[in-house]
Amino acid sequence: MTLWDGVFRSGHWARWPAEEVVRSVSRLAAAIGRPLDVLEVGCGPGAQLWYLEHEGHHAVGLDLSAIGLTHARSRLSEEGCARRVVRADGAWLPFRSGVFDLVLDVEAFAHNHEDLAPRLWTEAARVLRPGGHLLSFGFTAATTGRTTGSDTGIRTVTGITVGPLAGYGEVSLVDKGVVQALAKGSGLKVVDAQLRSRTTGPEHWYVEEQVTLAQLVPE
Ligand SMILES: C[S@@+](CC[C@H](N)C(=O)[O-])C[C@H]1O[C@@H](n2cnc3c(N)ncnc32)[C@H](O)[C@@H]1O
Repeated sequence: MTLWDGVFRSGHWARWPAEEVVRSVSRLAAAIGRPLDVLEVGCGPGAQLWYLEHEGHHAVGLDLSAIGLTHARSRLSEEGCARRVVRADGAWLPFRSGVFDLVLDVEAFAHNHEDLAPRLWTEAARVLRPGGHLLSFGFTAATTGRTTGSDTGIRTVTGITVGPLAGYGEVSLVDKGVVQALAKGSGLKVVDAQLRSRTTGPEHWYVEEQVTLAQLVPE
């Protein structure tokens, strides 16, 4: 059982897609002029998949958590959506190259050690069609609780005890420079980089995310 199986077993997880996913998907679909082929790496219980399927896109979800995938399957079935989910590691995607218009990483790469980040980004880039996009959400060091954890790398922290990242194991934090380097190293070009913040919970914990849209630019 993974840490995430335990989290999803408790049943408390967001049912709705991230606002920036809705915004980017509608813009990209309008630009391409047809439904999108989308892969969500680390789909968990499938909030993004549910939204994509309702909007007529072709969504595939991938996760390491069997319980997350079970929840995703149930929700998609209950709502009459196609259920395309697979249990696999985002660092070794079981897909041919060049088959997706969009890859989503909604706070999934963040829950891996920084050493794996180049591989996660390169795999995402590999499965994109020329001109396709990766939309990635990563937490920054300004998020509440960073200093309560122990460093396991230059930007990776474990054992955070306070805030929105407490109890979720290892977290690799990013900033604009880090995502620029990861994009460049995987053959992608950053076309939009936003710092988005919110507060959460009764304690008003601060959550700050670097939201990056990167494109596979044809050579
Ligand atoms: C914070 S949750 C986000 C879930 C979902 N994206 C959402 O927005 O509701 C992180 C998810 O990423 C998954 N994950 C983390 N690293 C992964 C990896 N290397 N391969 C596949 N899934 C991964 C976890 O199992 C978990 O379901």
